[in-house]
Amino acid sequence: MLLSGRGSNFQAIAEARLPIEIVAVISNRPQAAGLEYARERGLAAIALDHTEHPDREAFDVLLADEIERHQPDLVVLAGYMRILSPAFIARFEGRLLNIHPSLLPMFPGLKTHERAIAEGIKIHGCTVHFVTADLDHGPIVIQAAVPVRADDTPDMLAARVLQQEHRIYPQAVRWFAEGRLAIHHGRVNLKDDSASQSVFSTER
Ligand code: GAR
Repeated sequence: MLLSGRGSNFQAIAEARLPIEIVAVISNRPQAAGLEYARERGLAAIALDHTEHPDREAFDVLLADEIERHQPDLVVLAGYMRILSPAFIARFEGRLLNIHPSLLPMFPGLKTHERAIAEGIKIHGCTVHFVTADLDHGPIVIQAAVPVRADDTPDMLAARVLQQEHRIYPQAVRWFAEGRLAIHHGRVNLKDDSASQSVFSTER
């Protein structure tokens, strides 16, 4: 599990009773609340401060070596707020998941909720996808949609989207753990199931 801050998606995954073991939680920010939560749960919580390693490529090698020490089957980016180098992505491709707070391919990058409101779109959401070298454009595992209301602020919209993030990220990790995700021509197929890879907010 890689994170940089609050760690609410990590928490949602940790509490979802999934058939997984979280072998390590690593943050590039030593003060991340997510690390504190990991310690409370008795998980290996590791800080690798990127500000001490100004060279991105060199830092990513350190990070990748630390991850491999724990031999994970899957690397989960849960609010990891640093762009990863192509070499890092190549090393973990196919077992690297990310959550992004928009309905990709709309609004890659930062400030997604602000931009969604500014565009006047009526439906917004979040996406779990495999990470590829193409920033915020990897194969999509699952998405959830929420309404955008006329009086929404970015914070209100972010909170509505976050609730859905906490639903779909554990679901995506479960599917991966069950060996049900297959990538074919850049698209993710869900094996042996009639479950939907799109989720609509049930709130009115
Ligand atoms: C989440 O909203 C996640 O989608 C976003 O950061 C937040 C982390 O919250 N990720 C990105 O913007 C990645 N580009 P959390 O630390 O409480 O899980």
